[in-house]
Order: sequence, then structure tokens, then C-alpha cells
Amino acid sequence: MNVTSHTSNHNPEDGAAHESHEAVNPWDIDAPSPQLIENPIDFLFVEHNRQRQAANILHLVADGEVNEAGVKKLIDFLETDFAVHVADEELCFFPLLLQNCPPEDNIDKLIERLADEHKKDEGTVAGMTSVLESVLAGEKLSGKVSRTVRGFAEHILQHLALENAVLLPIARARLNKKSLQALSDMMKERRI
Ligand SMILES: [Fe+2]
Ligand SMILES: [Fe+2]
Repeated sequence: MNVTSHTSNHNPEDGAAHESHEAVNPWDIDAPSPQLIENPIDFLFVEHNRQRQAANILHLVADGEVNEAGVKKLIDFLETDFAVHVADEELCFFPLLLQNCPPEDNIDKLIERLADEHKKDEGTVAGMTSVLESVLAGEKLSGKVSRTVRGFAEHILQHLALENAVLLPIARARLNKKSLQALSDMMKERRI
């Protein structure tokens, strides 16, 4: 694994540092950080940063720009790590929050909304990858398809912003060591 000193010093809460890394190549998506799975909430946070990079690429594509390596990377990300992240949340993270949060957190309504958005994403990703394949084949996007691509990018950004602003802080406050270990173990199992 190619772990540079930049990566090993990376602080997942340091959004500004991450933004500056993004600026180097707007078509890039950072490599995953499996070493962070021991700190599963940090791992989810870093995956959200990678999703932000994916949304940036979707915006470039919607603007009519093409970068073969970047679009290929985006397709791979949507079909693999993005899908696995949704499974992490649906099958491990959300159930643990529902078990551990007191009623006054009102977490059930929020989780219902986020799970509903995940369901819609599943349907959208298949269509999105075929749009991206057509871009790789040299097709120009119609105005309508561009708007769909832009809409998906905006949706990813608002979904991760809500999870970062509300869900992750609640998880940090409510999940004890045992729950965090269980979350970490379930995430590892999914990646064997
Ligand atoms: Fe989510
Ligand atoms: Fe998420």
C-alpha cells in the first residue's frame, strides 16, 4: 500500500487540509483509508470527504468537461466504495444508533429520511454509470441529462452534509466503546 507521510498525518477532522489536497487534481478521489476503520466514525467522515470529491467530478461532467481517468475512477467509486458505505450505514451504523440513542434525540425520523435517500441513490447510480460510460464513449450530454448529473451531485453533497452535521456528532456522543468496536468489526468483515 502506498502510504505517504501526507496520508499518515492526515487528520480526518481537518477539512481545510483536505480541501487543499482536492485542489491539486479536481478529477481525483483519494484512496480509501482502511487504517481508520479502528476509529469507525472517523472512517465514515473520511468516506464523506471522498464522496465530496466524487460530487465535484459529477459537477465537472455536468459542465461538459471530460477526463478519461477521472470519469473511470468515478464509475469505480460509485460501484464499489460508495455502495459499501451505504451498506455500512444501513446494516451497522443506523441500527447501532437506533439501539443507543434515547428518544429525545429523535434519531428515528432522521434515519428514516437518510435510508429513504439511500434507496433512491441505488436506483440513480445505475443510470449514472451508464451516463458516465456514454461520456467515455465520446457522447455529449443533453441539457436534461446534465441537469440530472448535477442534481445527483447536489444530492450527494446535501446528504453527507446532514450526516456530518447531525448524525456523526450524535454517534460520537452516544456510541460507547463496545458499540464502536462492533461497528468497526462489521465494517472490516464487509471488506474481507
Ligand atoms: Fe448515508
Ligand atoms: Fe454517509
